[in-house]
Amino acid sequence: MSLRAKCGASITTPIYHDLNMNKKFYITTPIYYVNDQPHIGHAYTTVAADVLARFHRQKGDDVFFLTGTDEHGAKVAESAKLAGQKPKEFVDEVVELYRIAWKNLNITHDEFIRTTDPAHIEAVGKFMQKLMDNGRLYEDTYEGLYCVGCEKFMTEKELVDGYCPDHRKKPKKIKEKNYFFKLAKYLDQVKDLIQTDQINIQPAEMKKEVLGLFKQGLGDFSVSRQKVKWGIPLPFDPAHNIYVWVEALQNYISAIGYGDNRDEFERWWPADCHLMAKDILKFHAIYWPALLLAVGEKPPKGLFIHGFFSINGQKMSKSLGNVINPNDLVEQYGSDATRYLLLSQFPFGQDGDIKESLFAEKYNSDLANGLGNLASRTAKLLEKNEIEIKSAKQPISDKVIDDINDQIERYKFDEALKSIMRLVAEANKYLDQEAPWKLTEADSERRSEVLNNVASWITTMARLFYPFMPIASHSLVEQFTGPKVKKEEGLFPRK
Ligand code: MSP
Repeated sequence: MSLRAKCGASITTPIYHDLNMNKKFYITTPIYYVNDQPHIGHAYTTVAADVLARFHRQKGDDVFFLTGTDEHGAKVAESAKLAGQKPKEFVDEVVELYRIAWKNLNITHDEFIRTTDPAHIEAVGKFMQKLMDNGRLYEDTYEGLYCVGCEKFMTEKELVDGYCPDHRKKPKKIKEKNYFFKLAKYLDQVKDLIQTDQINIQPAEMKKEVLGLFKQGLGDFSVSRQKVKWGIPLPFDPAHNIYVWVEALQNYISAIGYGDNRDEFERWWPADCHLMAKDILKFHAIYWPALLLAVGEKPPKGLFIHGFFSINGQKMSKSLGNVINPNDLVEQYGSDATRYLLLSQFPFGQDGDIKESLFAEKYNSDLANGLGNLASRTAKLLEKNEIEIKSAKQPISDKVIDDINDQIERYKFDEALKSIMRLVAEANKYLDQEAPWKLTEADSERRSEVLNNVASWITTMARLFYPFMPIASHSLVEQFTGPKVKKEEGLFPRK
C-alpha cells in the first residue's frame, strides 16, 4: 500500500496552519566554476537551496530550483591547459563530478544548467544583441588589472602588496578594446530598488554593505574580452567573447526560456531567491539588476547571502590541503547526516568555522543518541508488545510547529534544527519518565497510549525535518504510521 493511502497523507503533507497554497518559488544557487571538483563550500549553498526548495514544495508552492556550472573564461581554460585537455573535454569531465556530488547529497534541482548548453548560448546572444540595440554598449579601450582567479578587473586599492587577497596572485595587466556597459545610467535606480527592498537583500548587514558600494563610485564595466578564447562570441562582433560574469549571470534567465519561451519565462521570473556567499555579492546585487533593467526585464526579487566559512580556523585552499570533499562526508555519515551537520554548525547568514572533529560528536549526540535512539527503542517496544498504531493526539503544539516553519522561511536553519532537536529530547524524556517497559499487562492500555503518543510525536517531527533529512523523514513516517510497527536497522548508527 502506498504511504499516501496508508496514512491519508504523504510526507509532503503540509504541517502549516496558514496554508498559502500555490505560490511560485524560484530559487537559484550560483553556477560553480568547473576549474576543479566541488568542495563543501559549494555543497553548503546547494544543500541550503535544496532545503528551501523541499520546504516550499512541502508547503504546496510551485517550485523551480536551478543549479549548474559556469564553464567559460580564462580560469577554466587555464585549468584545462594544465590538465592537457581541450576546454570542452575538460569541462565535460568536471561537470560529472558536480552531478555525482549533488546526487550523493540528494539534491532535487529541477534543472542543471551548463553555460556550454546551446540553449544558454542562444539566449545570451539575444540578450547581448538587445543591449546593443538599446544603445547600452559602447566601445572603448580597457587598461588595467585582471585577476583570473576572481575572473574580475581589480583596482590597485583592492590589492594587498600587489597581490589579489583571495588568490594570492599578481593580477595580469591588460590593455585591449572592449565593449562597455553603461552601468552609470542605472545606478540610482538599482540603489533605490535595494533601499526600498524591491530587491530584498538579506541579511540586513549585507544590504548595508551593498549600499556602501554605491558610495565608492562604480564605473561602467567591460562586457567583452578579445583575448579570452574560451567563451561565447558577441553576436554583433565575434572577434570578442562575452565577459564570463556577464554571460554567467544570464543563466538565471536562459534556464527558464528567456528569448525563446516567453510564457515559461514569465511563469518563473523574477527569481524569488538568488542564494550565494558574499564573495559574489556585487555582481548579483548591482551588475545583474542593472543589466536586466537595460534590456527591459525586472530585477530579481530577493538575494540571500550566507556566511563564508573556514575549516578549522583556516581558509579552505588546495595549497593548505584542507579542502573537504562532500562525497567523503556522505560516505562517512550518509547524506541526511551530512546535510544536518553542514547546516547546524553556525547561523546561516554569518561567517563561521567548520570543525571536522565536531562532526562525529554532533552526529552521535543529536542523531545517533537523540533521534535514532528514540525511534529504535519506541519501535522495539511497539513490536515486542504487539501494539498497533491508533491515531493519537498530535502532541506538538501548533505554536511550536509554526515557529519552526517560520525559522526555515527566515533562513534560520540552525535555529529550526535546534528546535527540532529540543522536541527529540522532550520525547526521549517523556519516554524515560513514563517508562512503558516497566508496565505490566495490567497496564497494557496505558502502555499502548504512551507508545502511541511517542509514535505520533515521531511522525510529526519527521515531517518537520523533511527538508533537511528527507530519507530519515520518509522512513520514519512510513515506519510509525503503522498499523504494525517493526524495529528496523538503526537509522543513524553510532560512530
Ligand atoms: N562562477 C561563479 C558564480 C557565477 S553565478 C552567476 C563563482 N563560482 S564559485 O565556484 O567560485 O562559487 C562561489 C560560491 O560557492 C559562493 O558564493 C558560495 O555560494 C560557495 N562557496 C564557495 N566556498 C565557500 C565557503 N568557504 N563558504 C561558504 N560558501 C562557499 O563564483
